[in-house]
Amino acid sequence: MTLDNLKEKIDILKNELEEDIDNIDFDSLTQKYTSKSSKFNEIIKLIPLLSDELKSDAGILINETKNYINSKIELVTQNKVNDSTTINFDYSLPGIKPEIGNYHPTTITIREINDFFKHYGYSVAIGPEIESDEYNFEKLNLPKNHPARDLQDTLYISMPETLLRTHTSSVETRTMTSNKPPIRVVVPGKAYRNETVNKTNNAIFYQYEGLVIDEGITMAHLKGTLTDLIRYLFGENTKYRFRPKFYPQVEPGVGADIECPFCTGKGCGVCKTRGWIEAAGAGMVHPNALSSCGIDPTKYIGFAFGFGLDRLVMAKQNISDIRELYQGKIVYK
Ligand code: DAH
Repeated sequence: MTLDNLKEKIDILKNELEEDIDNIDFDSLTQKYTSKSSKFNEIIKLIPLLSDELKSDAGILINETKNYINSKIELVTQNKVNDSTTINFDYSLPGIKPEIGNYHPTTITIREINDFFKHYGYSVAIGPEIESDEYNFEKLNLPKNHPARDLQDTLYISMPETLLRTHTSSVETRTMTSNKPPIRVVVPGKAYRNETVNKTNNAIFYQYEGLVIDEGITMAHLKGTLTDLIRYLFGENTKYRFRPKFYPQVEPGVGADIECPFCTGKGCGVCKTRGWIEAAGAGMVHPNALSSCGIDPTKYIGFAFGFGLDRLVMAKQNISDIRELYQGKIVYK
């Protein structure tokens, strides 16, 4: 056995490979040229038959050939990927289902509540988030220097007239100013306050406001509406309560609480050990608010409510930190 014999065999193998490359499939190629039972392996087995001084040259030759074979076969795989007609692809297979996003839990809850009010004949109203002092405060019976303004930690765009609305009640005044009773609207929307951000408070938050103005409206209509809504959202057996609460925009005013779903009333971090979560502020629209918007308070009367929407979403979704609702990653249950 000489080095020339070996070269001869390698040349024959290379020629064969050149021919095979366009004619046999990938699996057969690897079987024939790179597997243990390949023709190339047969040539490698001849090396021990060479004299010792030829062995290192033969080793170099074998390595070159191995690289040559591998590069040829690699080229075949690349071409196959680029040329889809040669890919063994079954077009009748079902497609791969693309992953699509979900609606945000807040959006879902807004739609759910809109659905509820649709059946009672309410329209959805919207208004600007950059608001004037007049619509956000003044017309709601909250004149300048009223102490209740302090509670609202207002973020101003320009002092003292232009601000980020501190509640969706600004859309109540806009609606009353530009519409005649009877009025029945709901207002889902964002509000802004200069809050210290923590588990239960955020500087941006959602409210869900409602306003009804007509003749002969009573507190019973308000109570019935809120009770039905709470049961619709959380089930017939949800515990809730109404208690007197002061809001300048209404008289009388109430706070509507639901039993804290995180501790079922025992008291925890989310409800600040109260056992109750304040779900909404509400009341009978103050006569001053009616007249400042051009509605005759001797003829018309109405009720209004403003839910802290985030709290409803948190209670429904079992999310105990409000900040989760304003991050990209939410696990929706
Ligand atoms: N605007 C109040 C707030 O953000 C909540 C509120 C109270 C809204 C009474 C109302 C209402 O519509 O009637 O603190």
